[in-house]
Amino acid sequence: MLDKIKQYIEETGKFKAENAEKLEEFRIHWLGRKGVLKSLFEDFKNVPNEMKKDVGQAVNTLRNQLEQIVENQKDSFSTATSVAFEDYTRPTGFDKGSKHPVSVVRREILEIFSHIGFKVAEGPEIEDDWHVFSGLNFPPEHPARDMQDTFFIERDPDILLRTHTSSVQVRAMKENQPPIRIVMPGRVFRNEAISSRSHCIFHQIEGLYIDEGVSFADLKQTLMFFAKEFFGKSKIRLRPSYFPFTEPSAEVDVYWGLNSETDYRITKGTGWLEILGCGMVDPNVLASSNIDPEKYSGFAFGMGIERIAMLRYQIDDIRLLFENDVRFLNQFQSI
Ligand code: DAH
Repeated sequence: MLDKIKQYIEETGKFKAENAEKLEEFRIHWLGRKGVLKSLFEDFKNVPNEMKKDVGQAVNTLRNQLEQIVENQKDSFSTATSVAFEDYTRPTGFDKGSKHPVSVVRREILEIFSHIGFKVAEGPEIEDDWHVFSGLNFPPEHPARDMQDTFFIERDPDILLRTHTSSVQVRAMKENQPPIRIVMPGRVFRNEAISSRSHCIFHQIEGLYIDEGVSFADLKQTLMFFAKEFFGKSKIRLRPSYFPFTEPSAEVDVYWGLNSETDYRITKGTGWLEILGCGMVDPNVLASSNIDPEKYSGFAFGMGIERIAMLRYQIDDIRLLFENDVRFLNQFQSI
């Protein structure tokens, strides 16, 4: 009997079913209710005692092997034949996202200013008239208020969407005594027609430094540092300008150069790019926020993030930055 069982073990060990039906036949023949294994167990009682151990082990080996064969081959048939089966929990190929160019530029600008001690501050997008205009030395009925077209939420008293991040300066000055050295990123709103050069929602970064003895030279050094770090250019020029909240005021251009056709196009043939507005904080602005203009002085600057991003990546239509067309955004994968 032992030899017979060993033969079975050898014989069935080579079994390979061609399909599910053949496997089922095999199972019934060997493991079925009237199968070979069953009769072996029945014969077991006739085995002489001294043989029982060896025969018993051999029968168990055979049974384990048979069960294993059926189990393994059943699995291979079930996966191979179930074409329609799909595992929805398996990860599929994800499209890789990319950072928005406005976020990239925003973060980079804040990082550059952090190296020279500027902390980040933020303020609300819905403001009152005082923080956006009056506290910044725009007198009532002053034509400077017309420089910006405002989205009003309520009139008398006026509640509005801030038209510039200069409003955050006012909050910072109200809440802190100098030294104040902050950069203030945020979204701003203007009631303007949307075109390739302007949008009604965009982003700005405002800068403010107030301490004893801050001078125009400090402003210029700070801006030169920024131009060098961000654009890799160290030549800047300041053109006189006007803002109600700074005196004197200036607009800053960075020298880009005129080496290629693109340079001519983006600088309109001048070689210079306008990057921001700035000036020395008007003493009236300091005083209205309870900072003593006799003791302290400071400078401020403000720039549009979209504008800077357009210069950096040579994007010539601002609308591309708002439409979230993935064909445009995917081009910023690597940054
Ligand atoms: N608030 C100005 C604007 O929206 C930008 C600006 C100019 C901010 C000069 C300043 C500044 O702080 O000093 O156009």
